[in-house]
Formats: sequence, structure tokens, C-alpha cells
Amino acid sequence: MFDELRFPVIAAPMAGGPTTPGLVAAVTAAGGFGFLAGGYLSAEALADRIAKTAELTGAPFGVNLFVPGGAASADLDGHVQRWRAEAERYGVELGEPRWDDDAYNAKLEVVLKWKVPVVSFTFGAPSPDDVERLHGNGSKVAVTVTSPVEADRAVAVGADALVVQGFEAGAHRGLFADEPGVEGGGTQYGVLSLLRLISARTDLPLVATGGLVHGADVAAVLAAGAVAAQLGTAFLRADEAGTQPAHRQALAEGGRPTAFTRAFSGRPARALVNRAVTDFSATAPSAYPEINNLTKPVRAAAGKAGDREVMSLYAGQTYELAGSGPAASIVERLQTEAREAATRLSRLR
Ligand SMILES: Cc1cc2nc3c(=O)[nH]c(=O)nc-3n(C[C@H](O)[C@H](O)[C@H](O)COP(=O)(O)O)c2cc1C
Repeated sequence: MFDELRFPVIAAPMAGGPTTPGLVAAVTAAGGFGFLAGGYLSAEALADRIAKTAELTGAPFGVNLFVPGGAASADLDGHVQRWRAEAERYGVELGEPRWDDDAYNAKLEVVLKWKVPVVSFTFGAPSPDDVERLHGNGSKVAVTVTSPVEADRAVAVGADALVVQGFEAGAHRGLFADEPGVEGGGTQYGVLSLLRLISARTDLPLVATGGLVHGADVAAVLAAGAVAAQLGTAFLRADEAGTQPAHRQALAEGGRPTAFTRAFSGRPARALVNRAVTDFSATAPSAYPEINNLTKPVRAAAGKAGDREVMSLYAGQTYELAGSGPAASIVERLQTEAREAATRLSRLR
């Protein structure tokens, strides 16, 4: 799987706006592979994006879905009050802190209907029945994992590939279950350590993801046994990405560290440190998607106003090294750098 790519770089699914059909098509045309982000979308909106992407590229592409978890048991009141003050500043209503399943089953039907070649899952493994349906329909299944234990679970349901996510990665950790009170929500493995640990347990193709921003990083994970590298932040400022202007500016300016926070969504996610991260992280409950639904209107208002102190500025650890411009030029640069890195490896011969 992914062996046939001209250049084994995958544009990560980035829900919430950054991933567009244009981005997926451009990375595909440049010799890579792209995933549409199904997360947060209605089934109709996902179908629309699949149709648009299919119009733009004749090449295969993937779709990513969020696996729903259980309803939160944490007390949300304190966090609701803290975000109420922010909502009042923008004159918007807070969202309802309700659980939902992200229209999982309806979106599964959409990817089945469209016979999407690769369907990746995040926040858990799909059921063996769903994997069987996808297989029967000609789709391959990839599962995002953040630990060896999660990798075992993904293998057990019949996954065809694992997306091995290191703690360097931007936005949400793909954790199957968030451990309340634990920073980052569970043991944090760097991408190379995790690749090594997981490749000692399975022969499935592994896609490496997390903090990869340079062609040498792509070469490094291939050398470590990955079949492809999945990059998110590297494409956040691509011309074709739907990243909000204020988010782009904050990334371009640099200077802020990144940290894990549950402040915006109730699940650990890596974001640039701003006032919301500083003030709300310590007390943010483990309650996804309740907190995501709660803060959505405030984050949208902050985004519109260009208020970088309240927006969720999700990004990976190496964001300051990511470039901008057409996605094709980003892929081309990665390819040149990867070749240079491969040349350096010749001293091992
Ligand atoms: C803004 C943003 C949104 C993301 N949304 C998703 C998503 O919807 N599904 C998913 O599996 N991963 C998502 N990710 C994580 C990526 O798949 C990938 O693991 C991560 O971008 C890798 O780290 P990097 O950003 O340093 O390249 C997102 C990442 C970012 C930066």
C-alpha cells in the first residue's frame, strides 16, 4: 500500500478547514497522496467534497473518519463558565456541550457508496464488521495509532496499514481513549521510537506522521521502515489549503512554542500557545466532543475577528520550518531535500 506513489508523501487529513479538494488534488498531481478530512462534516458535505475532489483528480485519494467514543463523565461547569466570558466578549452564544457521534455511520455509507480507495480512521479502530464491509467494497483501511497497544488493536480488526502518529504531530492526538489528568492523554512516543516499537510487532505497512516537515524527515522515516510519510503542518500554509488567515499569520510569524491542550475540544491536541491555552488547559476536562461543540461558535468568532489569543492554532512541533506557496512546490522541495538526504546516506555503504 502506497508503494506505487511517485513520491511517498501523504497530505494529512486536516479537519476544521485546512484540507480542501484542491489541496488533495494538488498533492496527488505532484506524485503524492491526499486524504480528505471527514471529521466535523455532515455526510452530505463529505459527499460533496468527495465529488469535488474526484472532479479535480482522476487519481485515487483517501478519506479520514473520526471513530466516536463514549459520552463524557467529567464535570463541565467550570470550563463552560470560563468559555462563557469569551463568548460574551464576542456577543455569541456558547455551543451546547453535547455528545455526538460525528455522523459516523452516515459517513461510512458515503465512503462505501463512493468506493473510496483508502479510508483512514482516527480516535479508535473501526469494528471488524465495518472493516469487512470496506474490504468487500474494494477499500483499504488505515488506522491512526499512538502506541503499540493501539497498534495491536488496529491489527486485530483487520487494518491494512497503520498511521503511526508521534507526539510531535499537530492537532489532536489519535488516542483511542484520552486518560483524564494525564498530560497529552496517554504515553507520548516520538515518531521514530513508535515506528520501531510497532514494526517489531507487525508486518503491516506503516505510515509515519508527526513533526515531519523537511525532505530529510521523509527520508528518515522511510529509512526506518515506513512506506510513506504523512505531513499535516507542512501543508497548512499551502495556497490550496483552507487554513484561516489569522492561523496562517501566526504560523508564519513563529516564536510561539506548541503544547498539548484540551482547552478547545476536550481532547489533547497540539496547538501554538496563546491565551486560551495558557489560561484554560490546566482545568480543561477530558470531554470530547462535548467541549468541541461548546467552544465552536467562540472559536469561529475569534477566527473571523483574527483574534489569535482565543483561536485553536493547531500545529505540529516543527511548524516554524513549514513553507508556503502552491502545494506542488512544497512537494517538489520535499522531494529535492529527500534526495539530498538519501545521498548523505551513501556514506553508510
Ligand atoms: C490543523 C490540523 C488538523 C488535523 N486534523 C486531522 C484529522 O481530521 N484527522 C486525522 O487523522 N488527523 C488530523 N490531523 C493530524 C494529522 O493527521 C497528522 O498526524 C499531523 O498533522 C502530523 O503532524 P505534523 O502536523 O507535524 O505534520 C490534523 C493536523 C492538523 C495540523
